[in-house]
Amino acid sequence: MERSYDIAKEIHDQLIKTAEAIPVFDSEFDPQIRVADERFGDFQANGTLPFAKKKQLNPRDLAKTLIDSLPENKEWEVSIAGPGFINFKLARTCLYQWLKAFSHREQIEAALATKEPKRVTLDFSSPNTAKQMHVGHIRSTIIGESLSRLLKLNGHQVTKDNHLGDWGTQFGILLYAIKREKIDLNNLGDQPIARLENLYRIGNQWIKENKQALKTAREELVKLQGGDEENLRLWQKIRDLSMESFEEVYDLLGVSFDHAHGESFYRDQVDSIYQSLESHGICQEDNGALVVFHPEHKRFAKQPFIIRKSDGASNYATTDLATLSYRSKEWRSEQIIYVTDGRQRDHFEQLFLTSRKWFEAEARKIPVLSHVWFGTILGEDNKAIKTRDGQPIKLVDLLDEAIRRATQMVLEKNPELSPEEIRRRACAIGLGAVKYADLSQDRTLDYVFSWEKLLAMQGNTAPYLQYAVARVHSIFRKLNTSPDELIEKAGLPQTEAERKLARKLIFFPTAIKQATQELKPHFLCTYLFELATDFSSFYNQDKVMVPEVEVQGIRLLLCQTTQTYLEIGLEMLGIETLTEM
Ligand code: ARG
Repeated sequence: MERSYDIAKEIHDQLIKTAEAIPVFDSEFDPQIRVADERFGDFQANGTLPFAKKKQLNPRDLAKTLIDSLPENKEWEVSIAGPGFINFKLARTCLYQWLKAFSHREQIEAALATKEPKRVTLDFSSPNTAKQMHVGHIRSTIIGESLSRLLKLNGHQVTKDNHLGDWGTQFGILLYAIKREKIDLNNLGDQPIARLENLYRIGNQWIKENKQALKTAREELVKLQGGDEENLRLWQKIRDLSMESFEEVYDLLGVSFDHAHGESFYRDQVDSIYQSLESHGICQEDNGALVVFHPEHKRFAKQPFIIRKSDGASNYATTDLATLSYRSKEWRSEQIIYVTDGRQRDHFEQLFLTSRKWFEAEARKIPVLSHVWFGTILGEDNKAIKTRDGQPIKLVDLLDEAIRRATQMVLEKNPELSPEEIRRRACAIGLGAVKYADLSQDRTLDYVFSWEKLLAMQGNTAPYLQYAVARVHSIFRKLNTSPDELIEKAGLPQTEAERKLARKLIFFPTAIKQATQELKPHFLCTYLFELATDFSSFYNQDKVMVPEVEVQGIRLLLCQTTQTYLEIGLEMLGIETLTEM
């Protein structure tokens, strides 16, 4: 029989097929296959309990009827536990066949690729131009990149778009300040973005204090949005300078995009958005602004979604509507995923509600819309992380610090390495640790940023996982022949530690699927940590290089599969691995 990678599905299908032939079962029966508590088995079917309850039957009797009808099977042992769960303990041959079929990267990748690929647009990172990327943008960038890799691994077609905030209100203030101060944008010194930020701060102060200043700043924005040449030229220069500074961060993080359209790309489309929404009666005038209310919604019945401000300027909402429409039409996106801070939940909820009405009115099929939001990074005082003088932490500074600390770690262990090699390892470890700290938490939670914790060699950290990878590499380096030849002779897993590790390995696809479906990379992190832990116990208990070829073979097969999954897993998190550490 050919081994399918998804044993949970095999069990599911077998139970459904069996149940179909038993009168008490009907189409409402869902076996609900889950990973079982290790003490009882490998998988368990939970579905007999709710089904028995609905039909007012005894769940244990029901489970017994079902398992008595299961065909003879050499793959797994079946038993009933507790009030009527069904446990499945995989046979050693089953584990063995699975490992043989999926130990190599190409094998597991082929198995994971869906037969129904979707076109997905991933909107992430998306910093605002004229500002430095601060620590808040790290989450969107890291989570977004990881999701793009996971979706691709699952066989989907992903378009990564950096939706830069390059067309907002900030430009009115900034242009006003630049002109008032007679600033030459070609001569901003070595920290151009910091200069611009400062100018913006000053400008903001002026408009708060002075009505005329506020009016002029608004006029500058309207002029820009109306296509004024001088303002457009200044704006383009600011955009270029900003992009350069973002690229620095993206290079460090290993993040790339297919597009960086930004809000400005849609500036000529906003008028048609107003017209279209007006013609369908979706929006209305409210105190001079154009807004959308959602009467069916508790809050948004009264809280307007402003799509054109009272001074006639377009805003974040307008460009987002245009962007959504463009992606659906031009890229034929079937799903659009937006990765932002949780504070934008209202904006996206209103955007999605409005778009659904709009697409329906136009008889267009709307893509699946997902807002992937995340919490705040906290300092050790449990408040949003800040520098000592209360400023937001610049992302480049944080990443530099990570590399500096990791360099110290590398130097302590291997002072003899070349400077290039030290830098290479320090980047992998330091940047990997920062990324992992972010990804290993449920993204909807806030988390406390602590250098000691994220760089620790023990615990749920990137260095711990990277070390596990390096350890497997060192095993293979010591072999004089190719591991594949030795693995050919592998026997069945025998010891407790072998079985435990084999069992963990077969859950890899489940972890990948769960992280992808729920758009939450921490499910993968938790799995990788458990895998590395089980590998470590196996390695401490069972010597790999033993004279018995069957024993050595299966242990090498376990090492090889562990290496493959840890490497793919870390790659999905955007974390580099090292062969020596
Ligand atoms: N520029 C925004 C910010 O920095 C994020 C944009 C997210 N994407 C979108 N299509 N609205 O908060």
